[in-house]
Amino acid sequence: MRTTVGIIGAGPAGLLLARLLHNAGIGSVVLESRDRAYVEQRQRAGILEQGTVDVLRAAGAGDRMDREGLRHDGIELRFDRRRHRVDFPELTGGRSVMVYAQTEVCKDLIALQLKEGGPLLFEAEALAVEDADTDSPRVRFRHEGREDVLECDYVVGCDGFWGVARNAIPEELTQVFERTYPFGWLGILADVPPSHDELVYARHDRGFALLSMRSPSVSRLYLQVPEGTDAEEWSDEEIWNELERRFETADDWHLERGPITQKSVTPMRSYVHEPMRHGRLFLAGDAAHIVPPTGAKGLNLAVGDVVTFARALVHLQETGSPERLDAYSETCLRRVWQAERFSYAMTTLLHRMPDATPFEDRIQLARLERITDARSAEQDLAESYTGFPLE
Ligand code: APR
Ligand code: PHB
Repeated sequence: MRTTVGIIGAGPAGLLLARLLHNAGIGSVVLESRDRAYVEQRQRAGILEQGTVDVLRAAGAGDRMDREGLRHDGIELRFDRRRHRVDFPELTGGRSVMVYAQTEVCKDLIALQLKEGGPLLFEAEALAVEDADTDSPRVRFRHEGREDVLECDYVVGCDGFWGVARNAIPEELTQVFERTYPFGWLGILADVPPSHDELVYARHDRGFALLSMRSPSVSRLYLQVPEGTDAEEWSDEEIWNELERRFETADDWHLERGPITQKSVTPMRSYVHEPMRHGRLFLAGDAAHIVPPTGAKGLNLAVGDVVTFARALVHLQETGSPERLDAYSETCLRRVWQAERFSYAMTTLLHRMPDATPFEDRIQLARLERITDARSAEQDLAESYTGFPLE
């Protein structure tokens, strides 16, 4: 098999890239190791930056998002039983975010790709990327019980944190930056209208909690739990009791309970692989970087990477200049490190370290009060949360 761009992975990065290339008249083949149902059901985050919303619309993939997505103009910070709203448009000159689940973005892109785009092979597992530093890189893969080879002009590894593409970059050229956190998030989906109309990020002595949503009738909630926690250790009632405690306020706000339809634990990690390109192999999304979910940046970073790649390839075809493709890694990494900074800041601002000292607790509260009292600090949060424009 032969194509212009071989794409490994049908998460948001790989699927959006295939769509952008299709729209630009550039051929691609997507290889995805899992089956379609698995990819469409995987629960992930759900906040789209303004820039991501714009990209999906321009790609012709925004119809259902515009019908069903919820525009949010702010978030609430909760600490010390107090509530503080951060008003995004007011602080950023009009920017907002959209609540629309990543799984829904994937469903929309899969439907478009199967209808209009190039080949998208499910249950096709990439085994290795070969000859990345030549003009004809290849992906060896297994599909329907047979091994095959995809010959490409370019390969983009959109195969997530556990993928194989990264392995094709020689170790001596690679630098990895990593931090793990001694806690994870226990996430639930519940059939109950969200108890607040915007997201609530709560810092509590017992640990962090987040109230989010999937629709006007489905809530998505998270609790900070110790690293290695098994979701089954928590009964539904214990989860609701703990959420209630961590969201407590001095006023009469209260948390509505409902049937829990799903629960799982997500580990937390910060990770960056440099460089993001080797010869004709490019890494995009979680294959190159991971952020803890507190800043809601994972999906948006993946979108930034593939937009950068697609624009650079179109630029090469239109002008003959490889300059932008050559700058891919540096261009992406500037944005990646800003998201790493913000995600780390939000994580350390709101979570309780297991060994936190009273001094550190006070510093955390002082950081929160700085945001509620100083417009410059609040504005910095609002700008980072809603996202910086793509270069
Ligand atoms: N061959 C083919 N496909 C693979 C392989 C392989 N060897 N390894 C992994 N994959 C597939 C996975 O099954 C998955 O569908 O690659 C896809 C990677 O998708 P994601 O993990 O969703 O990563 P990405 O597209 O970069 O999206 C980043 O996902 O983890 C969240 O919070 C993160 O929102 C962010 C987003
Ligand atoms: C979610 O809705 O899943 C979500 C929202 C905001 C975050 C992380 C996850 O920061």
